[in-house]
Amino acid sequence: MAEKTNFSSKIGLVMATVGSAVGLGNVWRFPAETQANGGAAFLLVYVACTVLLGIPVMLAEFSLGRAGRSDAVGVFQRLSPRTAWWGVGALSILASYLILTFYMVVAGWTLVYLIQSVDGGLFDGLQTIHGTAAADGFFRQKMADYICTDTTPLLATYGMIAINIGVLVWGVQKGIERLSNVLMPVLFVILLALCCVTLTLPGAGEGLEFFLRPDFSKITPGVLVSALGQTFFSLSLGMGILITYSAYYPADTKLGKTSGIVSLMSLLVAVLMGFIIFPAVTSFGLADHELRGATLIFVTLPEVFANLPAPCVWSTLFFVLLLVAALTSCVSIAEVTIAFMQDRLRMGRVKATLVVLLPLVVLSALCSLSFGSLSGFTIFGRTIFDFLDNFATNILLPLVSIGVCVYVGWFAPAGLLRDELTNYGSRRSRSHVLVKWVIRFLAPLMIAMILLSNFIDI
Ligand code: PHE
Repeated sequence: MAEKTNFSSKIGLVMATVGSAVGLGNVWRFPAETQANGGAAFLLVYVACTVLLGIPVMLAEFSLGRAGRSDAVGVFQRLSPRTAWWGVGALSILASYLILTFYMVVAGWTLVYLIQSVDGGLFDGLQTIHGTAAADGFFRQKMADYICTDTTPLLATYGMIAINIGVLVWGVQKGIERLSNVLMPVLFVILLALCCVTLTLPGAGEGLEFFLRPDFSKITPGVLVSALGQTFFSLSLGMGILITYSAYYPADTKLGKTSGIVSLMSLLVAVLMGFIIFPAVTSFGLADHELRGATLIFVTLPEVFANLPAPCVWSTLFFVLLLVAALTSCVSIAEVTIAFMQDRLRMGRVKATLVVLLPLVVLSALCSLSFGSLSGFTIFGRTIFDFLDNFATNILLPLVSIGVCVYVGWFAPAGLLRDELTNYGSRRSRSHVLVKWVIRFLAPLMIAMILLSNFIDI
């Protein structure tokens, strides 16, 4: 695996990592979590978690991947044979698979919105655009039709599973990645443009205040756990993805710089989304409605588009870009499990892909239906979708990250972190001393405390 580099250039490699990290987590999940967890207080904790915990954990994963040059389980087995540390890798594969299960559903919604934008259905029947917009539930109704029913979202989820199988079997990931390298900057520009629009909406100030002025009394254990989970989700940590990717990094890739770029891009996209969604929420009076977290952007964004000239064009453009972002993330997460099956169980590419993706036909369907017929079915008070998301994101990802920190900080072969962060002594950086301290003490303790505080809270 070590010699087999799939990436044409170093910059392509960093971009592929960014492409995998930036996805629905930033665009869809971040606004929903921010809204559910009190706005600015959540943002603050999220940024703090990204800098204090996210970057060090990412460096630990990069170091592991590049030193072990294998899949998420294999790195542990190669670096510490005959120990049980591979269990951490196995847990990350489980987490990534559970995440893929519900992520596919949201990717499906993106597909529905794209199709409805192209064909105009999304804006069909909308009379008062410009100024007054469609505040009286027009897009809430559309969302209910597209997401909170059984057939449409289910078919879309199946469509996305099929697209994923196609991409993975024909091996066109590289093409998709290249496409995403071109489209990501475009997404960025669109987000900036949308920001300019929403910030000038009447009533935008209130939403901005919600997003930017922290009310410290709102920081509860639940908020801490959600912000921590969101940090790991949006940076693709604890999912085995970054370990798998960094296994292909050449010896001279600067891990510190790479982690900085990935985190910054991820933060930037999330914050831009905040600037788009929250002013729009207050301006269009969507705050009072019982908008379910997961569906927030699918009501708010069409409202924003409806206030622009040629809403279909904006909407189509946006959802194409979001779909590509979601696809690169889906493919990267599926690749973690497929690589494992191919290497370990000696399965062929096609078989491994089918073994990984076909169970989603049932599992993702359950997630999809939890917005329709199964909405009344709950596990620990949550729908199937919310339960899976919460369990994988807020419990499994932090647990895996603690495991990675403890392993790299205390049990990995001596000098691993120093070697990787200095590129085997060729760079005279001392940053590894600080990073090692954070990985040994600060990160695992803080993550554990946040997790425990939430349990005690319950
Ligand atoms: N960081 C990715 C995102 O925000 C996380 C992810 C990757 C999730 C792959 C699912 C699949 O979308």
